[in-house]
Amino acid sequence: MKKAIVLINALSEKATEDELDVLDQASLIEETLELLGYESERLFMDFDLKKIHDQIVSANPDLVINLVESLEQDARLIHWSPSFLTHLNLPYTGCDAESMYVSSNKILAKKLMTSYQIATPLLITDVNSGQFSPDTTYIAKPVWEDASVGISDANVMKGSPANISAFLLNNPGRPWFFEEFIPGREFNISMLGGNEGPEVLPMAEIVFNDYPEGKPLIVGYEAKWKEDSFEYKHTVRRFGIEQEDPELTEKMKEICHQCWKVFGLSGYVRVDLRVNTQNQPLVLEINANPCLSPDAGFYAAAEKAGYNFSQVLSRIIEDAYSKINR
Ligand SMILES: Nc1ncnc2c1ncn2[C@@H]1O[C@H](COP(=O)(O)OP(=O)(O)O)[C@@H](O)[C@H]1O
Ligand SMILES: [Mg+2]
Repeated sequence: MKKAIVLINALSEKATEDELDVLDQASLIEETLELLGYESERLFMDFDLKKIHDQIVSANPDLVINLVESLEQDARLIHWSPSFLTHLNLPYTGCDAESMYVSSNKILAKKLMTSYQIATPLLITDVNSGQFSPDTTYIAKPVWEDASVGISDANVMKGSPANISAFLLNNPGRPWFFEEFIPGREFNISMLGGNEGPEVLPMAEIVFNDYPEGKPLIVGYEAKWKEDSFEYKHTVRRFGIEQEDPELTEKMKEICHQCWKVFGLSGYVRVDLRVNTQNQPLVLEINANPCLSPDAGFYAAAEKAGYNFSQVLSRIIEDAYSKINR
């Protein structure tokens, strides 16, 4: 039997919903690994690199499933584990350190997109640059978070100097950037790697049901994680754009493939986009190694494509091995 390590970031004592989610993914993966002929061992990574080094080396795995999302709750360290696994010359699932870093640093990601003509909403990093227009709506986003951490209705505002400085004053403690707010339709598009190359899975649209007039249509923290909230209950995933609008589908598909290439992605990825009034899709972000839990977007898209989770994991593993053989 082959051996796989399921590598997870050590969780904080009072772990939040978005943090705990990795354990659901780990359980699903461990069950599936068994079906694929692997025995698995779960290891937790923290700042003690010597300890995790020795644990991995003594386990002598054929493969590592990299589920590390942060270290010491700091998402800026997301690329440490793929760097470390590259150093150990072990096949590991998901994106490599470079793609993790450039996609997770959202400012860097947007700059890279822009330099390759991948459309993304206007970026403002310097609040004193005079780029804000008081009549335009913007959204403030944390540079280093994902999973909608730090995103709520208060992040959406008109670009008056008073609004911008009030937001920054009320939200200290993490770096922010601003983006032009795109009020159009939102799509989450999952891509699956494997020996046959990346495949764009059925595209999920996030529909905002019965939102009161004036309430920003965004998938903030509540909508993603707080099951009792209005936002969670009123945002639903739907499929079908491929049949309804082949032209828009083709545009989004092409953008996703471009992202895969430019960012050197591998394994499994989800690209979040919004469509502007000219029917032009703009990339909000690239999620390298998105959540694989059964209630999350990637799983739903794979299911819609007719894949079971063993097939999904096999394809992710194919990419892990093909990277090491390059
Ligand atoms: N420029 C934008 N225009 C409109 N909505 C946005 C914009 N950027 C983010 N959002 C909303 O905020 C949500 C979270 O932003 P996103 O960039 O996907 O970051 P993350 O999911 O990593 O927190 C999106 O799903 C979308 O609903
Ligand atoms: Mg997102």
